[in-house]
Amino acid sequence: MMKVTVVGCGYVGLVTAAGLAELGHSVTGVDRDRAKIDKLRRKEVPFYEQNLEEMLVKNIKARRLSFTTSLGLGAANSEVIMIAVGTPMRPDGSPDLEQVEAVAREIAPYLQDYTVIVNKSTVPVGTGRRIAAIIKESARGTPEFDVVSNPEFLREGSAVHDFRYPDRIVIGTDSPKALRIMEELYAPFLAANVPFIRTTLETAEMIKYASNAFLATKLSFVNELAELCETVGADLPTVTYGMGLDHRIGPHFLAAGPGYGGSCFPKDTKALIHLARAHGKQVSIVEATVKVNERTKKRMVEKIQKVLGGLAGRTIALLGLAFKANTDDLRESPALPIIDGLLANGAKVQAHDPQALAAAKQIFGDRIAYFEDEYEAAAGADALVISTEWEAYRRLDLATLKKVLARPVLIDLRNLLDPAQARAHGFVYEGIGRVVQ
Ligand SMILES: NC(=O)c1ccc[n+]([C@@H]2O[C@H](COP(=O)([O-])OP(=O)(O)OC[C@H]3O[C@@H](n4cnc5c(N)ncnc54)[C@H](O)[C@@H]3O)[C@@H](O)[C@H]2O)c1
Repeated sequence: MMKVTVVGCGYVGLVTAAGLAELGHSVTGVDRDRAKIDKLRRKEVPFYEQNLEEMLVKNIKARRLSFTTSLGLGAANSEVIMIAVGTPMRPDGSPDLEQVEAVAREIAPYLQDYTVIVNKSTVPVGTGRRIAAIIKESARGTPEFDVVSNPEFLREGSAVHDFRYPDRIVIGTDSPKALRIMEELYAPFLAANVPFIRTTLETAEMIKYASNAFLATKLSFVNELAELCETVGADLPTVTYGMGLDHRIGPHFLAAGPGYGGSCFPKDTKALIHLARAHGKQVSIVEATVKVNERTKKRMVEKIQKVLGGLAGRTIALLGLAFKANTDDLRESPALPIIDGLLANGAKVQAHDPQALAAAKQIFGDRIAYFEDEYEAAAGADALVISTEWEAYRRLDLATLKKVLARPVLIDLRNLLDPAQARAHGFVYEGIGRVVQ
């Protein structure tokens, strides 16, 4: 059992804190947001994430997990301090490291015995060494510590599962002592033969950016191909199925959609471009990925406009606001520019999402209408547009939809529905890169 402090109780920090407590460690979660900490102390999760509440409650009750706003309370006497704060994008595309650097400055005076400082936030190459330099400058005396890069790969929506069953654990450090402590921290995963990548700070930091940029590139690749498929009359889902059966390609992450969003891909692709430019280099494939994503998002409004022959005065039922299923996170969600585009062209929006309505109200206020029920959102609309791949939308009752919609138009931006079935029910169906065979 080790004493661990996790600074930042967002998606990454909270899942990490609860997960490490479940492994048997004594964990303190620290956040500067008092309202968040008050909620956590009441055993409430401040955002929607499957199975997280259960893991949280279990470990708080077992007294392995507690929360505070006081960094001093958490940091003093911890063997491991993890940094899991935000690294948002600046307007020029570079990552804003202010939160990470602030934590390094804030923890420095509390360091006593040897401590491992673990950075989990996604940061450009060189940040681990910068954290070490800041701690040295801000410490009282010369505390013994090492910095480790331990990037996080969890997916929102299945974060608890991803903590419990990681594909790999990346540990970047120069220090054999810090490496041993990290192996002890994650001992159950080592015992379960999860691949451990023991490497340098720089390589670990690059693995994270490279992984996200590659995943985003796969999505932009299929999204661009979808447009070509529509033009030449090829069926994209069949094309990607055919591609994915090739073992060198694999079936994952080949589903076309309205463009990638979320808190990671948009900012991490831009951060990698920025990092390359800062070193006089170029990652031109990643640059193209970002451009294609912007075009993909724009193309969605054009698609809806084309199917309806104009948007002014039309009512659109929009199913799905979150950037992906199983989360209430709206950060960079493609639904946001779709709504903006629909409103700008004079359409009305009737929105539904199983989890993200509250967050959407903060953004759109009374400019759109919100519905708890899919069929109520569809009532009287000129088209139903699906923009998030919620499982429930796969099971929409087409006969009921046909009755409640003003016009039988389905625009399926996630390719969830069967086009032949939709057409058999009398719908005009439009997917992404699809042709009816
Ligand atoms: N969300 C994801 O799916 C995901 C996945 C992998 C990696 N990451 C990376 O992990 C990092 C965190 O992401 P997130 O989504 O959890 O962010 P988040 O914005 O949800 O949470 C960050 C938290 O840190 C807190 N915080 C900021 N400064 C603080 C300080 N000085 N002291 C205490 N608390 C402080 C904030 O109040 C907030 O609660 C980012 O670098 C992100 O790129 C995110």
